[in-house]
Amino acid sequence: MYPPPSRLHATHDDPDAPVRATDNDAALARLSAVSKRYLNDPYIAALVPRAHLQEPRPPLINIGTYLRGQGIDELVDGFLRSAGDATQVQIVSLGAGSDTRFWRLAAGPHKDRIAKYVELDFPDNTTRKAMAIRKSRVLSPALGSPDVVSVAAGGTALRSPVYNLLPVDLRHSPESSLRPLLASPENPLLSPSLPTLLLFECVLVYMTPAASDALIQWFVDYLSAPLGSIVYEMFGLGDSFGRVMLNNLRSRNVELPGAAPYPDLASLSQRFLRLNFTDANALTLYSIRRSHIDPTELDRITKLEMLDEIEELDLVLGHYAISWGIKAPEAADWRNWRIHPKARAVVDEDEYD
Ligand SMILES: C[S@@+](CC[C@H](N)C(=O)[O-])C[C@H]1O[C@@H](n2cnc3c(N)ncnc32)[C@H](O)[C@@H]1O
Repeated sequence: MYPPPSRLHATHDDPDAPVRATDNDAALARLSAVSKRYLNDPYIAALVPRAHLQEPRPPLINIGTYLRGQGIDELVDGFLRSAGDATQVQIVSLGAGSDTRFWRLAAGPHKDRIAKYVELDFPDNTTRKAMAIRKSRVLSPALGSPDVVSVAAGGTALRSPVYNLLPVDLRHSPESSLRPLLASPENPLLSPSLPTLLLFECVLVYMTPAASDALIQWFVDYLSAPLGSIVYEMFGLGDSFGRVMLNNLRSRNVELPGAAPYPDLASLSQRFLRLNFTDANALTLYSIRRSHIDPTELDRITKLEMLDEIEELDLVLGHYAISWGIKAPEAADWRNWRIHPKARAVVDEDEYD
């Protein structure tokens, strides 16, 4: 589930190029899972250059992409439900890359519940995405009529009444980088009093623990309404599997400074509790596959492709996790915000409350 070597080049002038390029890999993985019918996503092809010429990824990657997608979809849906049907919410996707969630939500039943949907990434990636959106007849209608959509900040930003794509380096001090974008005193993009969900899909791991803590802490301090946060990333990299992964990535000029403080699943939940969230959970993809996917669905995806190495699949899935935390005054309203066990109702030993 990590990037192939060919596209990753760091230079002295541009040391972040390999990290930015991890988005190509994430987008290709999603495109592949769609083309192999694991997932349904009519939007991803518009964000991948020459999508029809891309080779599918191996089954293991497709399964991982599917499990991650199902788990996070359920949590996003559950956040919207737990916030209350009459309440509008804000969603901020940090290191959004080529993610298509905004368009999937805009075509679904919660469309009118989204007050703001903000995507943040490095300027190179937001510029590319802004151009792709403007060019695409599949993506641009969801933003509204052309007179309410504007390209800003020299082509690096795209603004519309709900969807906003903004350039930022998330490692910088949030006070100087995020506040002007999201919380300017004259015209704040995010309201402090609306329930807000933060999405960190494979991004915090590329940052130092101090920088990612400061980032989450900034939202904790700014928002007075319930704050949810979902993190998907690799963890437990101190074993031989993790060492091989780290070495492979290093040879491609990608470092994972954010993985070190997270040796096990419990430490992923702990991150949120340490930052004053009221409740937190974490599940490995291994555990999601075993007991949190509807059995009919699991049967369907199992038949899509031949998979010889089930031990390898389990090993890889055991090193990726979705963790989530909620900070809310009324903890009871959020007790049900989780990825629910399906049918067999197995509670895994590696599920943490
Ligand atoms: C592996 S991709 C994931 C993309 C998307 N979240 C997904 O899961 O499909 C990581 C993304 O995080 C972005 N990213 C990493 N570090 C960042 C930083 N310091 N500031 C802004 N974006 C960053 C990268 O540019 C890239 O688009």
